[in-house]
Amino acid sequence: MPTTRDVTGALCLGGVRLSDLVAASEIQTPSYVYDVDAMANDACELKSAFDGRAHLVAYAVKANTAGPVVRAFAEVGCGADVVSGGEMLVALGCGIAPDAIVFSGVAKGDEEIDRAILVGDRGIGAIQIESIEEIARVDARAKAAGRIARVSLRMNPGVDIEDLDTHANIATGHDEAKFGVPNVDTAFALEALRGSPHVALQGVGAHVGSQFTSVDPYVQGARTVFEMARSVIAAGFALKFVDAGGGFGIDYGKGCPVRPADFVRAARDEQVKAGLGDLALYVEPGRALVGAHGVLLARVIQTKTTRALATPRRWVIIDAGMNDLLRPALYQAHHRIVPLAATTTGRADEIAFRVVGPVCESSDDFGEHVLPAAIAAGDAVALVDAGAYGFTMASRYNGRALPAEVFLRGGRVAQIRPRKPVADWVDDRVF
Ligand code: LLP
Repeated sequence: MPTTRDVTGALCLGGVRLSDLVAASEIQTPSYVYDVDAMANDACELKSAFDGRAHLVAYAVKANTAGPVVRAFAEVGCGADVVSGGEMLVALGCGIAPDAIVFSGVAKGDEEIDRAILVGDRGIGAIQIESIEEIARVDARAKAAGRIARVSLRMNPGVDIEDLDTHANIATGHDEAKFGVPNVDTAFALEALRGSPHVALQGVGAHVGSQFTSVDPYVQGARTVFEMARSVIAAGFALKFVDAGGGFGIDYGKGCPVRPADFVRAARDEQVKAGLGDLALYVEPGRALVGAHGVLLARVIQTKTTRALATPRRWVIIDAGMNDLLRPALYQAHHRIVPLAATTTGRADEIAFRVVGPVCESSDDFGEHVLPAAIAAGDAVALVDAGAYGFTMASRYNGRALPAEVFLRGGRVAQIRPRKPVADWVDDRVF
């Protein structure tokens, strides 16, 4: 939660007092606010954990696709992990070199594959092959384009879902998942690659899951990747990199004792143990670089008390809903909610409220939060740790406009992407 309180007790992000921000007439709520400098600093810190060895921090663009954010990562030397032609265009448009882009996804369209093959002099760094069937498709597209497509094998390391300290909906590297090529199928994949002269294998990788708060499942996945890489090399392929994926967790309030650099060091140790120390190590963090450096600002529309339960329920209804921040509804995620105003009152004046949004769904519910008893319509609050998978998962459900985005740099507002008027949504529907 890298928001801080200043001497007056007011909530700040990136050196900016958030109450001043909402007081400014051009900032509407709901609005995401990001500390872009802190994101770039975290990326630099992560890069230094590689101790100068060959590596790529392929930022998982899906976590936050905003131009100012992706450009900041490009400036400090990050690459990108993308999962669609759209994300690829954002990465390229923000200055990430084609060489530094890897493209994952189980269902890449022909146009997306063509774009990945044709960009720049040699196409992107690697199309991550997620099935044996995909090899023939990429080979055919590359042949038609008159190019050699650089690919990597995204394997499914088969890490038991019981061993993963994460939500089942964000675990990807287990046998039931649709992602990757299971290692039992390696021999078939290599046979297909041998028969495909227009693809060149560059690496082997995996992504086991997301929001790990210990390095153990990550290391378990990386170990399987390195074993597979060894058998691929033994079969005569010359690899350039191994890719341990993303998944580094952050502290959403229950603690996270590990830093992103810990995942890198643990994976690097395994890589050396596997005798693969000369290959570049790729990682694909999304959440860990952006999550803690973004908040969703909202205002209280009204409070409400219902007496149907033995203990009357006190509700706070805010103007941000599950369409703006889906994580609580989809993963039962808890984002702390903090009032922006300086808190002069003690805890005795705080009580438990159920905070909900305006969307007509029972799951439009941000959970129980202890807030000042006097909280009232018009008060502004911040839903913290919302920099990852916040705006990118937002929708216009219930005829609502997408939230605004505010980008802070150097202790001031550098850019604003305003909330699109609801009229745009109406135009789209009354076509
Ligand atoms: N690489 C691949 C191939 C991925 O599928 C993902 C995330 C990442 C990297 C980045 O993972 P991260 O470092 O951010 O954990 N919407 C969910 C998270 C879904 C993650 C999907 N894949 C959430 O809000 O928690």
